[in-house]
Amino acid sequence: MKIGRNDPCWCGSKKKYKACHIAFDEKINSYAQKGFPVPSHAILKTPAQLEGIRESGKINTAILYMVAEKIHAGMSTEEINTLVHEFTIAHNAIPATLNYKGYPKSVCTSINNEVCHGIPDANRILKNGDIINVDVTTIYNGYYADASRMFCIGEVSPEAKKLVDVTKECLELGLKAVKPWGFLGDIGAVIQAHAEKHGYSVVENIGGHGVGLSFHEEPYVCHIGKPNTGMLLVPGMVFTIEPMINAGTSEVYEDADNGWTIYTDDGSLSAQWEYTVAVTEDGAEILTR
Ligand code: MF3
Ligand code: CO
Ligand code: CO
Repeated sequence: MKIGRNDPCWCGSKKKYKACHIAFDEKINSYAQKGFPVPSHAILKTPAQLEGIRESGKINTAILYMVAEKIHAGMSTEEINTLVHEFTIAHNAIPATLNYKGYPKSVCTSINNEVCHGIPDANRILKNGDIINVDVTTIYNGYYADASRMFCIGEVSPEAKKLVDVTKECLELGLKAVKPWGFLGDIGAVIQAHAEKHGYSVVENIGGHGVGLSFHEEPYVCHIGKPNTGMLLVPGMVFTIEPMINAGTSEVYEDADNGWTIYTDDGSLSAQWEYTVAVTEDGAEILTR
């Protein structure tokens, strides 16, 4: 249904459409006519929703800082799960992963050759030299925020340290590529170029995602791409950037027993960092920092 110029705007501002999002929609339509995929209104967040995700992001970030203080060689990944779970509940929030599509824990802990979705386990003990991704997603007042970071346990090899650092650089470069009226492919392109420059590979079929009102929303954010391709970026979009970078092959497989954990095919190390990001009028805002 086409909205009339004098009808209320779809964004909920209570202004007339002609005084609110009409020019914005015309701009989006001009890209759609050129053949670009464009975001639907349904995935654009209102200022109130952005504030909700921001608040959720603050708790999510506090959880990662708490983990950073407590993580150490000799502890189990189940202990990390307990820390995350209890801290989340104590802040009147909900761990989004718990019971999500049957996932059994409140956090993902992925060590060394585990790419993502590692399941905390009392028998999995962190040891000197491990690299681990801790991926936390929080629901607060119904709003979702999703972020992860790497931790180096004790003394890690120079190779492991470099992979962790370059993967962080990939995330920061991806973030810098986020601008209104840019494209999703711009993000994948800079991440892919930086990873490959260092001889690493990028996991292709697991990526970032829209987030905020639910855990995984449109669009899919691929960490491989070409500039000026893919979905148009416009203010109000909220999605994660979460590159998974492998030291060896980009091929991965899923754990046949637990149905969750993803591993590198060749057993090489993998690293990942994740932010929840909003597209703003002039660039991007990290909602999980
Ligand atoms: N937090 C992960 C992401 O970044 C998703 C974990 S889903 C789970 O998208 F079920 F494995 F926990
Ligand atoms: Co995510
Ligand atoms: Co995550």
